[in-house]
Order: sequence, then structure tokens, then C-alpha cells
Amino acid sequence: MASHFCRVLRARILQALALLLVVLLAWWPLPAQASPDGALLFDNHCAGCHIHGGNIIRRGKTLQLGALERQGLASPEAIARVAAAGIGQMGGYASSLGDGGPEAVAAYVWQQAQAGWPRA
Ligand code: HEC
Repeated sequence: MASHFCRVLRARILQALALLLVVLLAWWPLPAQASPDGALLFDNHCAGCHIHGGNIIRRGKTLQLGALERQGLASPEAIARVAAAGIGQMGGYASSLGDGGPEAVAAYVWQQAQAGWPRA
């Protein structure tokens, strides 16, 4: 009798845990999956000119940390603004990057810049 009760209780607890897990998984905000892939956006829209974090048009205006710091662009927010609206000789890419694209690509650029463009 006692062991039957234990089995039922255990089954109930497992059921409740499983249900909780399903609810959590369904509702958990997953920004990494929901937002665009920054690395992919970079390859598609930026690497043409900024291959390996460089700049094939204006040699000094690279995406290396030092260059970004010199231009006052050493933050993901500043890079996102440049990606969307452009700067100097570079046009903006807001429409091709799409919703959340400038932020996603900027996060990637910032992470690569801080790490010294290891993907290069
Ligand atoms: C057609 C070539 C081209 C493409 C594509 C391009 N850029 Fe640029 N980018 C430039 C040029 C040229 C500059 C220098 C602009 C200036 O200061 O006159 C620049 C400058 C920058 C800077 C400032 C760097 C510095 O050291 O001053 C950032 C940040 C940047 N680009 C990010 C991006 C991102 C992110 C993308 C993709 C969404 C991108 N660029 C796509 C040509 C390009």
C-alpha cells in the first residue's frame, strides 16, 4: 500500500516536472535563436569590404578594436548605428539587414574586435 502510494506520488511529481519543463521551454525567451545570426549577416553584407575585420576601401577604417576606438565607435551600439545608417563613404544597410539585424551584426563585430578577429 505504502509503496503503491510512493509510486503514484513519484509519477505525479514526474508529470508535474515534465509539464513545468514543457511550459518553461515554450515560454522561455530565446534571444539567441529568435534574433538574426550576426556572423551570417556579416558574411553576407559586410565581409565584401570588411574581410577579416579590415577595410578594402579605406585602409585605416577597419573593424579592429584600435580603429574603432580611434573613431569613437568602440561599442555595439555605435557599430549598430554605422551598420544601419552608414558613415562617411559607407552607405547604411538597415534595409538589407532587416529587423534586429544591425544589432546582431554589431554584436558579432564587437565580439570579434575584442577577440582580435580570430575568425580571420
Ligand atoms: C561597400 C563596402 C562596404 C560594406 C559592404 C560595408 N562597409 Fe563598413 N565601411 C566601409 C568604408 C569605406 C568605411 C569607412 C567610411 C568612412 O569613414 O568614410 C567603413 C567603415 C565602417 C565602420 C567604422 C570603422 C572605422 O574604423 O572607422 C564600421 C563599424 C563599419 N564600417 C561596419 C560595417 C558593417 C557592420 C557592415 C555590414 C553591415 C559594413 N560596414 C559594410 C565600406 C563598407
